[in-house]
Amino acid sequence: MAAVGKGFGKCILLGEHFVVYGVPAYAAALPYGMEVEAQSASVDRMPQGPYAEAGLLALSRIKANLGVKVGLEVTAIRSLLPVGAGLGSSAALSVAIADAVATLAGLNCTRIKLSDAAYEAEKAFHGNPSGIDNTVAALGGVLRYERRSHLGQTNVIEPLQVKHPLSLLVIETGEAGQTKVQVEKVAKFKQANEAVFERILLRAWDRSREFMIAWDAGDLQRLGDLFNSAQDDLFGLGVSSEKIELAIRHARDSGALGAKLTGAGGGGCALALYADPDALQLARSAFLSKGYQVHLVVVG
Ligand code: PMV
Repeated sequence: MAAVGKGFGKCILLGEHFVVYGVPAYAAALPYGMEVEAQSASVDRMPQGPYAEAGLLALSRIKANLGVKVGLEVTAIRSLLPVGAGLGSSAALSVAIADAVATLAGLNCTRIKLSDAAYEAEKAFHGNPSGIDNTVAALGGVLRYERRSHLGQTNVIEPLQVKHPLSLLVIETGEAGQTKVQVEKVAKFKQANEAVFERILLRAWDRSREFMIAWDAGDLQRLGDLFNSAQDDLFGLGVSSEKIELAIRHARDSGALGAKLTGAGGGGCALALYADPDALQLARSAFLSKGYQVHLVVVG
């Protein structure tokens, strides 16, 4: 018997890193992600390739979480997500594996249950993940996510209705960032600069509240301003990079309402918001002529 599992890629619209410390963040699933094919086997196996080692670790953690004891072989992994680009490839893979494991084991799991199982794998990869990646990878759509698990409470997950579409450009910097390293960098910054960090966190809380107001009103200019303000603080925490800053400058030159890194930073992707699909197409051409790889994402 064979099974197919799926998980979405994602981009974080606002609140990466601050979400680890309990500030509500906003993420949108991409229309594509990861797909795995799996079958029963005598021992666990992964195909050769960039996910061989991480995939095996994810598989064993997911099986333990779901109480599955039989061996499983992942026979194929199909991905449209660049690795280490902040588009949630590891969470999408973990959710896809959990989905396939559950189907093969005959478990009738909700997508939330798959997300919880994938979170166990995310912990192995990232140390202290907020859980936003596996949640959006499992559920899709646009979410407001508030971590409460570090306080011994249940995380708050709120699907958002898209009343006003967003025209977004995901710009690959071509440089891979490592989530674990970037999250640890922020933890070290906090330890060394408690008072400054507290002020940065307060601004992140303000932005998080303002995001909902701007989102409900369809105030794109305000959303762009919030992107820019978030980027200033992420830069201050040391999780941006020269290539991200360059991509952001190009984005602003190409008429973006706002631009920021998306995901953990240190490389990966930048995310720019445009006024409408026409402005987005123009910006896409400008980036392509500079040799960038870009992805158009129209939310809604
Ligand atoms: O793994 P990435 O690059 O999608 O980033 C995850 C977002 C962080 O806020 C940096 C970490 C987390 O666990 O929320």
